[in-house]
Amino acid sequence: MEKTVVLIKPDGVQKKYVGEIISRLEKKGFTMVSGKLVMLNESLLRTWYAHHVDKPFFPDIVSYMTSGPVMAMIWEGDNVVSVVREMAGVTDSSKADKGTIRGDLGEDIQRNVVHISDAVESAQKEIGLLFTPQDILE
Ligand code: CMP
Repeated sequence: MEKTVVLIKPDGVQKKYVGEIISRLEKKGFTMVSGKLVMLNESLLRTWYAHHVDKPFFPDIVSYMTSGPVMAMIWEGDNVVSVVREMAGVTDSSKADKGTIRGDLGEDIQRNVVHISDAVESAQKEIGLLFTPQDILE
């Protein structure tokens, strides 16, 4: 069964959007197979966002993503990677459609409430960085 990673970022946790986001995913028919509140650190973020490490905004990503706990989850279902990407909306919350998670709950390109795996391969990489096989219910 296809899996994707959803991280509710520190702004989403602080604003108490965890239940709202889980509810949207459950109503779409997807199943959470792992979930935990965790504090990220720079070392993990350098691997997680390897394609952004050299960008000028990378230090901002680190300070924002380490500013509080994130809710890290693995969700499972048919075409879960692409469907959850659509549910999240485009990266920049100020440009995301209403009805999407980022469009409804986010603020801007950085404070965009959720990180979503962008492909099946990225989901596998992200699962390996944050979860052990024992964490995942099958
Ligand atoms: P995410 O989907 O987690 O993937 C990479 C993150 O980098 C993205 O969400 C944003 O939070 C952040 N990001 C991308 N582009 C910019 C930018 N131009 N300025 C600040 N943050 C950005």
